[in-house]
Amino acid sequence: MADAVVQTLNPHKATMKDMTKADMKTRTPSGLAHPAGNAGAAGASINARGLTKVFGSGDTAFHALGPIDLDIKPGEFVSIIGPSGCGKSTTMLLVTGLEPPSAGSVEIDGKPLTAPISEIGIVFQDHLLLDFRTAINNVMLQQEIRGLDKATLRGRADALFERLGLSGAENRYPWQLSGGMRQRVSIARALVHDPSMLLMDEPFGALDAITRTQIRHDLEMLWLETRKTVLFITHSIEEAVGLSDRVLVMSKSPGTIVEEIVIDLPRPRPAHLGEYPEFSKYAERIYRIFEKLGVYKF
Ligand SMILES: Nc1ncnc2c1ncn2[C@@H]1O[C@H](COP(=O)(O)OP(=O)(O)OP(=O)(O)O)[C@@H](O)[C@H]1O
Ligand SMILES: [Mg+2]
Repeated sequence: MADAVVQTLNPHKATMKDMTKADMKTRTPSGLAHPAGNAGAAGASINARGLTKVFGSGDTAFHALGPIDLDIKPGEFVSIIGPSGCGKSTTMLLVTGLEPPSAGSVEIDGKPLTAPISEIGIVFQDHLLLDFRTAINNVMLQQEIRGLDKATLRGRADALFERLGLSGAENRYPWQLSGGMRQRVSIARALVHDPSMLLMDEPFGALDAITRTQIRHDLEMLWLETRKTVLFITHSIEEAVGLSDRVLVMSKSPGTIVEEIVIDLPRPRPAHLGEYPEFSKYAERIYRIFEKLGVYKF
């Protein structure tokens, strides 16, 4: 597994000693919009051309994705929606550099992607928190393994915990948190080092509808504050329309982008998206595309 993931999950690093009382003294309140230590980590641009992935070779070769083109502007919130198995997670892995493409290329901020990038935050469908570390120490893992300034990162972690409604849960272990709280801790871990891009693969898939709605709003507010570039993968039409500036709709496997829908709704968006007549139009449009593609068998 490549850098970015290993950096988050490396069990060797994870056994580094937990934070001490002295660490607590170094806490400094810090906002999220103008963090210290990683100046200029505004959103990065993502551009891909002819991105294609074939797994295996010869008789067992499987064409999983593409070719697709992507053009995501700095600070944009873009969702990819598509049926199961169409290549959404594969797209994400190619954009992080964790998987090499079989053909095509990716540029981040205009620079060709040739290795896994570190200026990135990833939230997976499964929270992937380390059970033997408290919530705050799961987040501070980024500081330890990236060798960043502890006080700055702790300040950012505290601000994120507050922002995400996690205050008071700092010293609980993942198994003492609800599913929604664990996903919030994952989001804090993905953002604490102030990356320029946030890639989220079905991050709320396992959550109940009420929690999903709340966490969608919290993510939107956080994004409005930080303006990271977000690539968000989802099966949920409501989530895609509710969060995005643009939705890219993917075909069945091998996934290609069949339609791009600009979501022109004011922000922040309400819990009940049906308040906007336009919401139903966007949702209807995506349903119709899936219907045409034969995604539904009713
Ligand atoms: N390492 C791999 N080796 C072989 N095939 C793979 C590999 N990774 C993914 N695939 C195949 O590529 C296709 C796309 O997989 P991917 O995980 O990108 O789908 P997805 O759109 O994310 O699906 P889901 O919505 O179910 O998460 C699937 O058919 C999958 O079985
Ligand atoms: Mg997937």
